[in-house]
Amino acid sequence: MAAILASIPAVAVAAPVRETRQRNVARAAAVPARVTRTMQLSSKTAMAGVRMQTAARATRATRATVVAVQANKYADELLETATNMTKPGKGILAMDESNPTCGGRLEALGIENIEENRRRYRDVLLTTPNLGEHCGGAILFDETLYQSATDGRTFVQVMKDHGMYPGIKVDTGLRPLANSNGEQWCQGHDQLAERCAAYYEQGARFCKWRTVVSIPAGPTMQAVKVAADGLARYGAIAQNAGLVPIIEPEILLDGDHTIEQNFEVASLVWAETFKCMMDQGVMLDRILLKPSMVAPGADCEKKASAEEVAALTLKMLNSRIPPCVPGIMFLSGGLSELDSTLYLNAMNQTANPWHISFSYARALQNTVLKTWAGDDDNKEEAQKILARRAKENGEAQMGKFDVTKSETEGASMYVKGYVY
Ligand code: 13P
Repeated sequence: MAAILASIPAVAVAAPVRETRQRNVARAAAVPARVTRTMQLSSKTAMAGVRMQTAARATRATRATVVAVQANKYADELLETATNMTKPGKGILAMDESNPTCGGRLEALGIENIEENRRRYRDVLLTTPNLGEHCGGAILFDETLYQSATDGRTFVQVMKDHGMYPGIKVDTGLRPLANSNGEQWCQGHDQLAERCAAYYEQGARFCKWRTVVSIPAGPTMQAVKVAADGLARYGAIAQNAGLVPIIEPEILLDGDHTIEQNFEVASLVWAETFKCMMDQGVMLDRILLKPSMVAPGADCEKKASAEEVAALTLKMLNSRIPPCVPGIMFLSGGLSELDSTLYLNAMNQTANPWHISFSYARALQNTVLKTWAGDDDNKEEAQKILARRAKENGEAQMGKFDVTKSETEGASMYVKGYVY
């Protein structure tokens, strides 16, 4: 036994495990004296008894010291939330733009960036009739979670009436990564447990953390590891507060990289993210992923077809993502409204281990915002467009989108260096 334990490389074993094993080795080494005495009694039964006692002591010591039984009082609820959000034909409406980002988009249409206008725009989105048919949830920004619709209901209640789960962005944004060539890291761990608890209290049941990886700025291993570690620590905290975490390491569209280069980077990023999530004890069957599709950079001359994007994205996912993960809810990342739907549809032509769907912001909202343009006389028309975009993506989730029947725009929405 001592030989077996001694053969376990110490570097591969966490410190408390190592200490326990060393104690067990010491105990095992002490056994022969007792065994000798027992054997003098020439009793095979006594010998077996000693072995069992020794084994039992070792097991007790190991359990008491290293096996912490994970008790998450929200475990069942997390599973229920993730399951309900990944029903056939359902995705997520991402509408969690920070005040400066939402405001920037409003101002581009001549609408003043004040709280009331942000609320009015979110009212257009959330009171869209039958929104819950294709959106299992919507991700909100802090401000929106506490606001009310024009008809007096809280936005949380509006969502509940649709049968949708309220979600919340919990990261606090990107910052320059020190000593890097323009890479970024995502902050927001301070008071995260407390903030998640308050959001749960307010009705949120899932949350999002978006970090980014830039191919032209690196990506360095340092940046990838920081991104993965941050996501994993956030994921563990969110689950302990009853929120299903969306894990979003966005690989930015910026750059002239090829689709193959994107594949390599995405494979690396997801490998690191899963390693870190396992280290942090994140329950992988109670998370949602929000990846970028594996596509060429916006400035790459060699474009890719929907089939090529789908094939390489699925190849990457199949080699990296365990089948127990319930849902893969893509971001649109500046793809055109039409491309984001076509790519999703192409990925759902095969049977996949996970629910493959959408969590789009720009690809759902773009035409809606332009149509509303701050004037409530256009509200109904804008809502019809959102309902159509949600329906088309719901069809794409089931692999049934028919482009010949669509009026959706194919214009790219890529904005260099877009800040969310
Ligand atoms: P886009 O679909 O606009 O890329 O939004 C991504 C996002 O993270 C929103 O939550």
